[in-house]
Amino acid sequence: MMEFKDRRSIRKYSRRGLPGGLIEALAEEASRAATMGNMQLYSLVVTGDGPEREALAAAHHHQPMVEEAPAVLTFCADFHRFSRWCEQRDAAPGYGNFVSFINAATDTLLFAQAFITLAEEHGLGTCILGTTVYNPDKIIEALRLPPLVVPVLTVTLGWPD
Ligand SMILES: Cc1cc2nc3c(=O)[nH]c(=O)nc-3n(C[C@H](O)[C@H](O)[C@H](O)COP(=O)(O)O)c2cc1C
Repeated sequence: MMEFKDRRSIRKYSRRGLPGGLIEALAEEASRAATMGNMQLYSLVVTGDGPEREALAAAHHHQPMVEEAPAVLTFCADFHRFSRWCEQRDAAPGYGNFVSFINAATDTLLFAQAFITLAEEHGLGTCILGTTVYNPDKIIEALRLPPLVVPVLTVTLGWPD
């Protein structure tokens, strides 16, 4: 198994596809990461082939990994789901503010790092894309994200070439 000291970003992927259910299994394991008050203030959107990928590639300044990786993962700070939970319990949510965004972004990044570490332990290659925060509006549109769901980190995923 690869040791953490040997990890590095992978920007070229082999043509081999990902086994069905692998991303879900890694996400489930990564979801053991700590979250604020166990509110789990994040969502993961998985993009394979299709029109969303083209729109995502444009939002990411056409970095080639977005077009070539078997999967593009958009990790989102998500206060939409928890706000609905509040409303279902007749509580008034008030999470459209900066502190709430920081809390949700923290949960998201802890989850994302756990996911990346587990994926790399599994032999997969990943690359984080900082372009996520340059064009969040384009990504929100491409993935049809609801209010209070903000993309904070994108990761391309595949077997290293
Ligand atoms: C917040 C963040 C944004 C990044 N954005 C990009 C990016 O847009 N494109 C890219 O090729 N690599 C990106 N990277 C990967 C870094 O370039 C890489 O982690 C760094 O150069 C160290 O290399 P290593 O991961 O191989 O050790 C990003 C990394 C982080 C943490």
